[in-house]
Amino acid sequence: MAEMRLARGDRLVVASHNPGKVREIEELLAPYGVAAVSAGALDLPEPEETGTTFAANAELKALAAAQASGLPALSDDSGLEVEALDGAPGIYSARWGGAAKDFDAAMARVERELAERGADSPEARRANFTSALTIAWPGGDHATYEGKVFGHLVWPPRGSQGFGYDPMFVPEGYNETFGEMEPAQKHAMSHRARAFALFVRAVLDDGDDGGGGEGA
Ligand code: IMP
Repeated sequence: MAEMRLARGDRLVVASHNPGKVREIEELLAPYGVAAVSAGALDLPEPEETGTTFAANAELKALAAAQASGLPALSDDSGLEVEALDGAPGIYSARWGGAAKDFDAAMARVERELAERGADSPEARRANFTSALTIAWPGGDHATYEGKVFGHLVWPPRGSQGFGYDPMFVPEGYNETFGEMEPAQKHAMSHRARAFALFVRAVLDDGDDGGGGEGA
């Protein structure tokens, strides 16, 4: 849809109250001349995440921010899905950290549940991170882009880079966990990077960094 694109000089709300996420998205948008303001800075309410999928939660956050601000809004919902745990913690990834955002405890819970199922080989410990990104317009038009990175979980956790479940996740084809990798290396292959790439291709006009093109 031609009107669902962003051009140089446009402003966008990042539908997140997480300063780390807002900064990451601002940096992504800068080469395209699109300015980002955060939902926090505009004092927008944070909707409850009542969806049952990453996409549904990303959509409700972006739609709420677009409607409240009158600007296009971009949101992200992400988490860790463990095959042997039927996709848990999934959309509850942040909530498993509790109010204290204690991801040592959340990782220990993942490990306990894997041990209960006797999951002791990399194959039995397969997992992926998923990121759903939604762009929504004040009129209600919206589109969602999803990225995944596959790998397996190790125990004990290794490395102090990154956040959340990074120290127990080893991406396919690597030996290091996301917690041990240089952030730039993780960011180049992450679920969020893959979702962003799809969003950029569909919604943003060509950047000034020589990348991209219109594709086939
Ligand atoms: P959200 O902010 O509601 O999308 O919550 C996402 C949660 O999933 C975070 O709190 C992390 O626990 C987890 N998560 C998402 N992406 C990553 C990642 O790249 N590394 C580690 N954990 C992640």
